[in-house]
Amino acid sequence: MAIRRIITKEDPTLHVVCREVTRFDDKLHELLDDMAETLYKAQGLGLAAPQIGIRRRIAVIDVQDGSGLIELINPVVVKTSGRQRDVEGCLSCPDQWGYVVRPNKAVVRAQNRDGEMMEYHFEELGARCALHEIDHLDGKLFLEKVDEFVDPAQEEEE
Ligand code: NI
Repeated sequence: MAIRRIITKEDPTLHVVCREVTRFDDKLHELLDDMAETLYKAQGLGLAAPQIGIRRRIAVIDVQDGSGLIELINPVVVKTSGRQRDVEGCLSCPDQWGYVVRPNKAVVRAQNRDGEMMEYHFEELGARCALHEIDHLDGKLFLEKVDEFVDPAQEEEE
């Protein structure tokens, strides 16, 4: 396994629609392992392949709720419901935080590392994180959805 370099928002790879994964081989497994290691090293909740310069529809998330690491390959959001508004950040947008409105629940179908179709029922932080990462696969950053930016220094004083 290896730590990959996380690119930042200026990089064009973060602004393109990523391609589907078609080969569920050792190379994919190595990439997924590297993404997990990179995610944990960076202490993030989720990481999408374009954030390490790979234009493929792959994301890993772990929101520390006991579900462990979830690998999403070619994910599709099939249903959302409810509404939540909370602060988000992104490993590719260091030092930027802001409130984003998202659905409170999301049903996502995705393949696992062996190509099997799975269905996940995400809620609250899990839904927020999954939808944030899936946005990355379409070249979208959370910044465009922020309705109010937060100054981290001010937040700490409150
Ligand atoms: Ni992000």
